[in-house]
Amino acid sequence: MGRADKVILAYSGGVDTSVCIPYLKQEWGVKNIITLSADLGQGDELETIQAKAIECGALESLVSNAQETFVTDYGFRSIQANALYENRYPLFTALARPLIAKLLVEAAAKYGADAVAHGCTAKGNDQVRFDLGILALNPALKVLAPAREWNMSREETIAYGEKFGIEFPVKKSSPFSIDRNLLGRSIEAGTLEDPMTEPPEEIYLMTKAIVDTPDEPEYIEIGFEKGIPVSLNCQILDSVTLISQLNETVGNHGIGRLDMVENRVVGIKSREIYEAPALLVLIDAHRDLESLTLTADVTQYKQGVGDTYSKLIYQGLWYSPLKEALDAFIDQTQDRVTGTVRIKLFKGNAVIVGRYSDNSIYSPNLSTYGTDDDFDHKAAEGFIYIWGLPTRVWAQRSKSLVASRKS
Ligand code: ARG
Repeated sequence: MGRADKVILAYSGGVDTSVCIPYLKQEWGVKNIITLSADLGQGDELETIQAKAIECGALESLVSNAQETFVTDYGFRSIQANALYENRYPLFTALARPLIAKLLVEAAAKYGADAVAHGCTAKGNDQVRFDLGILALNPALKVLAPAREWNMSREETIAYGEKFGIEFPVKKSSPFSIDRNLLGRSIEAGTLEDPMTEPPEEIYLMTKAIVDTPDEPEYIEIGFEKGIPVSLNCQILDSVTLISQLNETVGNHGIGRLDMVENRVVGIKSREIYEAPALLVLIDAHRDLESLTLTADVTQYKQGVGDTYSKLIYQGLWYSPLKEALDAFIDQTQDRVTGTVRIKLFKGNAVIVGRYSDNSIYSPNLSTYGTDDDFDHKAAEGFIYIWGLPTRVWAQRSKSLVASRKS
């Protein structure tokens, strides 16, 4: 008896997921395999990938155009949360997994599959995100992860595929492991495994090197509606166009690179290079617009929510009661986060130089350094007297303690 009858396999067209097809059939006795490739803006030829799956022995190969859903339901949500894992990584790879999990589960229902499969290995985060996403959406489905168990080197994996007539074009394969979608690129492994080694320039595709960026600054304006980016330079754009244009514009000034060591879910540290020009600038702009429209206590409390939110995205808990509860909080806070942020792009820096909102609670009459303001200056003294009372009592006590020790 095989491990499953009919399987929906998440398929990228790469070596691992291609070899999964004969492997699942031969080693694990799976009868039928349907592949599913999601277009998340990774820029691959999807027809080629679709044909490849059939060549490898899939019964059917499905393609799902999910770019808009990805940006709108996953990317924009994380912008509203200002979600940055460990304060830096804008989570675009992590965000793609729950969406792919959802597409797999939906396809399993449609095609009557008893299992879904993915090509993740045992040391990464993505296996956690897939497995948890799938089980949260349909706990009855089996999840098969052949690459987690097969213990083959790269060469052995290729040789295994060749046994079943799977050819891999002899293009000089990248020494790096790269994941990409419309919101960014993650690059790891190879020489990058030494945290002290500077990333070679050629790994970057979305961001220019500073030496090649324009010598003149460029100004852009991003419009937000309830915390969601809707326009670029006063032009209302759909989500995918907005991200694509912004990636171009921002990346052209060498903005959006990140080099960090992060803590994986499975307890391993890893050195990661990211480029996410649009997403990083959008999170920064969004946070800035919040500073103009949210009260101090909501702003400060929401920072903690954003931290928790980024952690749950990273750790595979997108479909979870905590996420739903935090979503309700975030939704409530975004009601007034509508307005425009003006940004100056120059030589690797995106500097926010202005912000405007009809809902602004910045009050010039209170903030002004001029003398003609609405602030009751006399009230300050009384406020400080009461605010400082605990400190005064504590300081007096300390003083008398010191005096009593000396005598
Ligand atoms: N460290 C990131 C994450 O866990 C990105 C992983 C990307 N994978 C890759 N093969 N480069 O979300």
